[in-house]
Amino acid sequence: MERRDCDAMVLFGATGDLCYRKIFPALYQLVRRKLLTVPVVGVARQGWNLQQLGERVRESLKAFEPGAEEEVIGRLIGLLRYVDGDYNDRKTFESLAQALGGCRRPLHYLAIPPSMFPVVIGHLSATQDPQNTRIVIEKPFGRDLASARALNQTLHRHFPESNIFRMDHYLGKEAVQNLLYFRFANSFLEPVWNRNFVASVQVTMAETLGMEGRGKFYDETGTIRDVIQNHLMQVVALLGMEPPVNVGGESLRDEKVKFLRAVRPIIAPEMLRGQYSGYRQEPGVAAESVTETYAALVLHVDSWRWSGVPFYLRAGKRLPVAATEVVVELKAPPANVFGALGPDQPNHLRFRLGPDVAIAVGAHTKKPGPVMTGTDVELFVAQQQKDEMDAYEVLINAALIGDTVHFAREDEVEAAWAIVDPVLNQKSAPVEYVAGTWGPARAEDLIKGSCSWHNPGPRPQDWTRSCGRTSPGP
Ligand code: BG6
Repeated sequence: MERRDCDAMVLFGATGDLCYRKIFPALYQLVRRKLLTVPVVGVARQGWNLQQLGERVRESLKAFEPGAEEEVIGRLIGLLRYVDGDYNDRKTFESLAQALGGCRRPLHYLAIPPSMFPVVIGHLSATQDPQNTRIVIEKPFGRDLASARALNQTLHRHFPESNIFRMDHYLGKEAVQNLLYFRFANSFLEPVWNRNFVASVQVTMAETLGMEGRGKFYDETGTIRDVIQNHLMQVVALLGMEPPVNVGGESLRDEKVKFLRAVRPIIAPEMLRGQYSGYRQEPGVAAESVTETYAALVLHVDSWRWSGVPFYLRAGKRLPVAATEVVVELKAPPANVFGALGPDQPNHLRFRLGPDVAIAVGAHTKKPGPVMTGTDVELFVAQQQKDEMDAYEVLINAALIGDTVHFAREDEVEAAWAIVDPVLNQKSAPVEYVAGTWGPARAEDLIKGSCSWHNPGPRPQDWTRSCGRTSPGP
């Protein structure tokens, strides 16, 4: 990677919720780590001034960085500049160019509603040098395949792909990056990582939270657009892709795209949509809403490696725990040497991707004593470090130094949309589930084989595994 650091950062939507909740805390940490020293220009149309922006930053840090040090806050506030104006007005962008002064390589973070992307992109290209201007685009990147393509075309009319950073915060998570590392830094995995040894792959993204004031946004979005098309498809791509040549160039993204293109588009009978009880009473949600707050589905991958191995995905709001986990279920040994005393569950690998980081390998060992029977054990091979960088920190830093690897490329987002496109815009009402439960019971019907959905627990070591006795594998 050729490193060309940005010399300024511009935040469109500086007075908005995303900056308040995620971006200001990340900037604070980057300043603390001395990774951010360039001017930060806030842009918004609220009639604010620089002092008000500074106060907002302080409020954000009070809420999300309770231990923030005054000296670091002072350094962050010292970097701030502010431009107030309407995004439709070219004058706003002329004022921005002025506020940037001598800065030649600004990074623009578009933390604004997607409907404003084209107009902001147009004005930026007219008032700045597109070859030296970087753009960070927040998800959702489009609403479907057609709108994602249209947005890509708008961007490419003005900016080269290497200057476009499509944000998916899952790609900045330590645990998600660890998935990539664990897969390709170890040789013991590769011989079993295929259709000959893997029975199925499950990914669960469970959240306890409901709408938290985001009802209007969510009701127009739903689970499939909100987290499956992006976060979970990225996780699945990292699990299923072929080894990249390296992680420095385009090879990693090439492999992810190749994998996503091998995934068959989802069909309605292989998906179950749910909605938690009480969702329709949430502020901003339509009284007759048919938006899903839960979805479970099956993916089939038409590749040499994965043919015949189902990938089960599930995500939902108001579930019993907040955790994202992957379970890779291996096939049973080819012969059952220990008969009725042998293990009744196959081996597995379990990746805890959030809120904590853990990788566990499930195996069987003999119970001490005269009887040849065993016990299930899990070997934890990774755990969280102190002072870990948050996903937003990792990705903002990567964009500032021009590293696109952990951002979604044009063809990657389009390939992910192509998978979910046939099941967007469902008109039927989702199945209701009681808030605080694991979603509609019918989701079990999607799973074939001896195991059902595995439920993550509150701590990485507490999970519920549900498999019946498996017959010996082939
Ligand atoms: C966001 C979604 O992208 O990811 C939210 O819009 C969701 O609805 C969030 O809550 C989950 O992120 P994390 O990092 O808490 O798993």
